[in-house]
Amino acid sequence: MEALLEEVQRVGYVNKPVASDVDLIAEINRLKREKNAVILAHYYVDGDIQDLADYIGDSLGLSQQAASTEADMIVFCGVHFMGETAKILSPHKKVVIPDLNAGCSLADSAPADKFAAFKAQYPGHLVLSYINCSAEIKALSDIIVTSSNALKIVESLPRDQKIIFAPDANLGRFVMNKTGRDMVLWDGACIVHIDISLEKLQRLQVENPDAEFIAHPECQEHILSQADYVGSTTALLKYVVDSPNQTFIVGTEAGILHKMRQAVPHKKIIPAPASQNNTCACSECPYMKMNTLEKLYNCMLYEQPEIFVPEDVRVKAEASVIRMLEMSK
Ligand code: 13P
Ligand code: SF4
Repeated sequence: MEALLEEVQRVGYVNKPVASDVDLIAEINRLKREKNAVILAHYYVDGDIQDLADYIGDSLGLSQQAASTEADMIVFCGVHFMGETAKILSPHKKVVIPDLNAGCSLADSAPADKFAAFKAQYPGHLVLSYINCSAEIKALSDIIVTSSNALKIVESLPRDQKIIFAPDANLGRFVMNKTGRDMVLWDGACIVHIDISLEKLQRLQVENPDAEFIAHPECQEHILSQADYVGSTTALLKYVVDSPNQTFIVGTEAGILHKMRQAVPHKKIIPAPASQNNTCACSECPYMKMNTLEKLYNCMLYEQPEIFVPEDVRVKAEASVIRMLEMSK
């Protein structure tokens, strides 16, 4: 066991080859039953993992599930800050993630020491942090928000309340534009959403004149200004289902297309083009894609890598996350 833990610390996941005759899906389902585990998956992980999950959702939905689950073990197929949020909300449960290396450019953009110094420059400001941040940043924040509830939470605050918004400057600017309020922004960004190419998008719109363009608020302002609708991943999914339109260009991580195509197989769903020359010519989060069936199987079998949050940090972070959950009701 000690050697296994050392290996997990070194490479970030259980690096044991799985025999080719193992039926991964059947085995993961067996482990889920035997260990009373729940699999939570974000819409951005691969479709084969989404299809196995007990709950698939956006960041808000997933944290609500993590707070209310009866399971003994939470297996979080997403990125590191999501596993941390689950541990913050369910400290007595075991929380595991398939790969510790699954980070997030937004969370990485805000190191706790630099953020504490930034915050100290703005006395009297309320700190609203997007859930895509580390437990330490959550502990330095007053209220956590997600892309589902950021507008609602900001609008519920007194108009003269000064606000710091971190770490996503694009979401912050979107909220400022929508609410007409000023906020002090931390300059973080999602590497996936800021990579959507306006030039390629406009070409796609010419080729698909009937398509509605819908986008996630982590996109840059010049992309959002083209959008017929802006919302969180869950909101985008709902929009595609509810809209009478038949063709959509979707400006977010391409993993969401899996659920969209399952929900409305007769509609045409086109991923918004990334500027990079990547293999799928769409937007893929390299961190979310670190979740694989093999790593998920090993993670459930060995119950590693496990997420820990120091108790003093957890208690402070919990207060800001709970405030969000209360304000989202
Ligand atoms: P939501 O889950 O709030 O839509 O955010 C998307 C995202 O980038 C998660 O990392
Ligand atoms: Fe972070 Fe962007 Fe990946 Fe979401 S899509 S986990 S915000 S890097």
